[in-house]
Amino acid sequence: MSQNFNADSAEKTSRLWGGRFEKSTDEMINDFQASINFDKRLYREDIAGSIAHAKMLAKCKIISDADAQKIIDGLKKILAQIEDGKFNFSVELEDIHMNVEKALTDLIGEAGGRLHTARSRNDQVALDMHLYMRRTVQEVQDLILELQKSLVDAAEKNLSVIMPGYTHLQRAQPILFSHHLMAYFQMLKRDYDRFSGVYERADIMPLGAGALAGTTFPIDREFVKTELNFSEVYMNSLDAVSDRDYILEFLSAASILMIHLSRLSEETILWCSREFNFVELDDAHCTGSSMMPQKKNPDVPELVRGKAGRVIGHLNAMLVTVKSLPLAYNKDLQEDKEGLFDAIDTIKFCLKVYAQIIAGMKVKAENMRRAVEEDFSNATDLADYLVKKNMPFRQAHEVAGKLVHYCIERGVYLKDLSLDEFKTFSDKFDADIYDAIKAETCVNSRNSLGGTSTAQVTKQIEIAKKYFADIVTA
Ligand code: ARG
Repeated sequence: MSQNFNADSAEKTSRLWGGRFEKSTDEMINDFQASINFDKRLYREDIAGSIAHAKMLAKCKIISDADAQKIIDGLKKILAQIEDGKFNFSVELEDIHMNVEKALTDLIGEAGGRLHTARSRNDQVALDMHLYMRRTVQEVQDLILELQKSLVDAAEKNLSVIMPGYTHLQRAQPILFSHHLMAYFQMLKRDYDRFSGVYERADIMPLGAGALAGTTFPIDREFVKTELNFSEVYMNSLDAVSDRDYILEFLSAASILMIHLSRLSEETILWCSREFNFVELDDAHCTGSSMMPQKKNPDVPELVRGKAGRVIGHLNAMLVTVKSLPLAYNKDLQEDKEGLFDAIDTIKFCLKVYAQIIAGMKVKAENMRRAVEEDFSNATDLADYLVKKNMPFRQAHEVAGKLVHYCIERGVYLKDLSLDEFKTFSDKFDADIYDAIKAETCVNSRNSLGGTSTAQVTKQIEIAKKYFADIVTA
């Protein structure tokens, strides 16, 4: 035993928690449980959190001012090393927290060993993740705004382009293409707000919870809160180290965002098809087929649609991971990172890419127009015309339906009928019927608040621009 003990002890000492152990960790187990390969992206947050903690320890006279200063200077050096790509991350040291702490101790000696006083990795990782989440939410919100701007831009440029609006993917009523784009602006506005909610829940300071129960040292959590610019501190130490709600909320908000982008993608893909032929994507945003020379595939929207599944998968994985977990920290919680980080990278990419797709999209106004002209999406307007001449709506609906049927049998459209033909269906028809069923009339008469008329869409665009201006100054 003594021989083994000696052989192992050299290795054991490289472990920051090695004191209790006689054997070193199995190499495969070590690889299995280490998180450094993915949590190294928390290095800035980890160092900022440790600097605040060291300042607090000195302020509360738990460590000396001199030691705190050494710690802070050392951590700043380590930050620079990491940013210059000169830091050697080690899987042996498991995670970002122990990599940084070990490097600090190697650099400054004994004072480094005092940093972890009154702290556990459990509250440390929670702090890092809260800081990281706050930063990420703001980056995501900026990208949402960029996409919203490109939608508003495209809406303005194509303000009076008329297309069929659909229900059941059947042509329903004429609308403005700009109105359609502005619907996505509104969806993204709710996404933005949802992420603000995530920010609020991430803006709570967990450090000081220790491993689970608080600490025997006279710490000052309010000081750390202020130092790191948090709004609140967690009021229950068990909750502080177990809470992953803010991650679940981020993944939920991300999933809903991706559902919106996926719906937009689906429409873009349909519109690019020869069957619709409403838009053409920029060459720079498409790829060709290795076999069929004529193809120009909308891969980017397809991929965004596909990636929605991936992000929703991460939400599911996290929900299932947290479900049934007893308080407080369990290693299962380390699984909060890879899916989250991948979801973050994915939504950021998709938002950036989509802003470009919209900006580069060529709108084929004549084809959209034809899809309106060569169909019956003005049938509601014909019924409304009769109602305005005092016919009850149910009866007007019946007359319009019969007229549509009459046209279909003859292979013509409503506008092609003579006034006499109209009159055989109702004596309420006059020469003004032709104007009433023109696409422009159909669109511009839908002037109810939030409707598709040019005036209403112009109002939407104005409100959107004010929204951008207000958000910048907020
Ligand atoms: N790498 C760990 C995580 O991401 C840090 C916390 C570990 N705490 C522990 N007691 N094992 O969750």
